[in-house]
Order: sequence, then C-alpha cells, then structure tokens
Amino acid sequence: MDTTRFDVLIVGAGAAGMMCALTAAQRGRSVLLLEHAPKLAEKIRISGGGRCNFTNLHAKPDNYLSQNPHFCRSALARFTPQHFIDMLDRHGIGYHEKTLGQLFCNDGSEAIIAMLRSECDTAGVRWCMPCSVEKIERSDAFYVTASRGRFRAAALVIATGGMSIPKIGATPFGYKVAEQFGIPMTRLKPGLVPLSFHPEEWAMYAGLSGASVEAVVSFGKRSFRENLLFTHRGLSGPAILQISSYWEAGKPLSIDLLPDHDVREIFLQQRGSKMLLSNFLAQYLPKRLAEIVATQWLENKPLNQYAEKELKALADKLKAWQVTPTGTLGYSKAEVTCGGVDTHALSSRTMECNEVPGLYFIGEVMDVTGQLGGYNFQWAWSSAYAAGQAV
Ligand code: FDA
Repeated sequence: MDTTRFDVLIVGAGAAGMMCALTAAQRGRSVLLLEHAPKLAEKIRISGGGRCNFTNLHAKPDNYLSQNPHFCRSALARFTPQHFIDMLDRHGIGYHEKTLGQLFCNDGSEAIIAMLRSECDTAGVRWCMPCSVEKIERSDAFYVTASRGRFRAAALVIATGGMSIPKIGATPFGYKVAEQFGIPMTRLKPGLVPLSFHPEEWAMYAGLSGASVEAVVSFGKRSFRENLLFTHRGLSGPAILQISSYWEAGKPLSIDLLPDHDVREIFLQQRGSKMLLSNFLAQYLPKRLAEIVATQWLENKPLNQYAEKELKALADKLKAWQVTPTGTLGYSKAEVTCGGVDTHALSSRTMECNEVPGLYFIGEVMDVTGQLGGYNFQWAWSSAYAAGQAV
C-alpha cells in the first residue's frame, strides 16, 4: 500500500479535531483529518439542545475538573471565548447569552459545524471520512494504517473525545492510543449525568417525575444553585448534572430545597397555625413535592399539632436533605467523560506528550472536564488551538 505524507494527522473530526486542523493548516502545515463517523460533528449538532452552547464568557480554570487543576490555565489564556466569538463574527453567525455567561447560537448548531468545515476547507485541510484507523506505528514518524489508505506524518493528534453517547460515534480509541504509547490515564467516569436511586427507595418520589425546584445541591465543598428535576428513576436537571461530575459513588449529596428561606424561623413564626403542613409547604415548594414531604417524611397534620422539635428537624431536613444515589445513568446519557489522558504526561503549552515527541492529545479525551455551561467546548477550542500552533 502506498503511504501518503502529511505534516499532521488528526484522528477525530469533532470540535477539537477541526479547530486543530484549521489552526495548523492556516500556518501552512499539510493536514489530514481522519473521522470514522459518516456524519460530521454529531456532538456539536446535538449540543445545547440543538443550539450549541459554544463557550462561556467566564471560563476559568476553576470551572474544570482535573487531577492537575492548573494544567488548563495556559491554553485557556491563549485562546479565549473572545477569540471564538471573533470567528463567529467573521462568519456572520448570530449568538446570544442565555444565562451565567453561556453563549448559544441563534440559528442552531449547524452554523458552527459549517463555520469550522469552511475554515478547514479554506486552509486546505484534507478529509478522510468515513474512515477507520486500523493501526498506528511509530519509527522515524507516525504511520497510520486506515480503511482508506496509509498515511505518514511527524505529528499525530488524537482528538477522539470521550465515551459519552456511543450511538453517535464515541469510542475509547484515544485511551487505547494512550495505552499503546505508555501514556498514563486517570480514572474514567460519566460526568454531567442524571443520578439514579434504588427503585424501592425512590418509590415514594417516583410520582414527582417532571417536577422541578430551584435548589442548592452540594457535595463536599462544591455547591451548585440551579434547577433540580425529579425523574421516575432519580434526579436530574442542571444542579444535579453539575454535581454529578464531583459526586463519589456511595456518598451522600446534600440538597437545600428552600435556599432562599430560613425554614426554622418560618416554622417558629407559624407554630400556632392551624394550616395543614402540606398546604403550608405548598407556599414554598411545588404542590406535589409539598404533599410528598408532608405525607412521607412526617404525618400530615395542622402545624400547631407538631412538637417544636419535630418542626426543627423537618426544617433541617428541607435545608440539608441527604440522599445517596445508587449510580448514574451512564455514558448513554452523560454529556461528558470525567478523567482521561493524564495531563501530567503532557505539555500544557502544546498538548504534546513529554515522553513521545510528536504525539498530541486534545479535547475531551484528556483529563480536563468542564462544568455545564459551554466550558467543554471552550476546552476543545483552547486545547486544539494550542496544539494547532505547535504541530
Ligand atoms: P468530540 O466528541 O466532539 O469529537 C470526537 C470525534 O472523534 C467524533 O467526531 C468521533 O466520531 C470521532 N471518533 C471517535 N472515535 C474515533 C475513531 N476510533 N476513529 C476516528 N474518529 C473517531 N459542551 C459544551 O460546552 N456545551 C454544550 O452545549 C454541550 N452540549 C452537549 C450535549 C450532549 C448531548 C453531549 C453528549 C455533550 C455536550 N457537550 C457540550 C460536551 C461537548 O460536546 C464535548 O465536550 C466536546 O464535543 C468534546 O470535543 P472533542 O472534539 O474532544 O470530542
């Protein structure tokens, strides 16, 4: 089989792969993008409910989980949200801030895919798609044997992402390449994912499916104040997705269901009231939840029939409800994979492996995981740009 030469081979044409390709090609490098899926960048397409939350104006290292928390600092500083916004502006793509610095496309995620594709094409990036990589060898350079040819390059960039949503093309390919070259990995787990409970334990809450409440959900020192959604299997909604990335199996979460209220004080003031507990709570909580709390956590009675001690205990439980999930809904429902290629083995300036010159890892395949809100795409752009400048 003939071997075609390039300066740079990039495996995975998702967010990071395309950004790296266009950056390197704009510097005059010959670049080949290899992608196994028949459709380009499905994850961008489905992201942000089809509108792609493509960055967050406030992205900073504290928004990322990693065993090497300062690693992301350099790349984030060199390719900022504003740099990506400038690219959108050049292409006339409209966007808006939804909340908390989260930027979404006005007209759908397709605009981002088309922009990246067109920047790649203008810069002369070559495509090999759909195409599966069969073998990677390294001698004087990297040799990649794929279903549609054999390719050689001095630089090989792995941009194959994480494990979430296998049905649209996610594979553990990047982790296997790390293993092949002796690059260490950190532990993997689904992140930004709904949490599940034992069916028997959850039975009393299953009827709440669809109800949501603004809550503060905490694990250890991390707290998120956002919407919490009851589902028939457990808990979801932004507050839960956020905390799921930090949650450790077997340990409880603490949930403040009434973050704006001093509940002990309210109960103290209303102790003489003849109002039924469920009706009283319904002034502060969704009706169905108030009903469950009043009937399942206690016996539903007028407030004046409870001992002060009982009301204090209920107040404390509403402010710090302890729940221990049995697990998560796994990679099929997770937005990201926490963990990945250990960044201690990589240069934070270039994303190149310290021990394997010419081999780069970018995007979600690395042990850098963003919180919910556009941070994961920002990491894809920033890490890809850093590598694209170096290859
Ligand atoms: P990405 O997954 O984008 O790309 C990897 C590419 O490699 C894919 O094209 C894949 O097909 C390809 N590939 C895999 N294995 C291969 C192999 N063996 N050979 C060749 N190619 C291979 N983030 C955010 O910031 N804002 C948001 O709104 C959302 N929304 C969102 C919704 C949903 C439902 C999910 C699942 C995820 C999000 N995310 C998100 C997360 C975000 O999509 C994700 O972090 C980035 O796409 C990661 O970019 P990468 O380029 O690293 O991987």
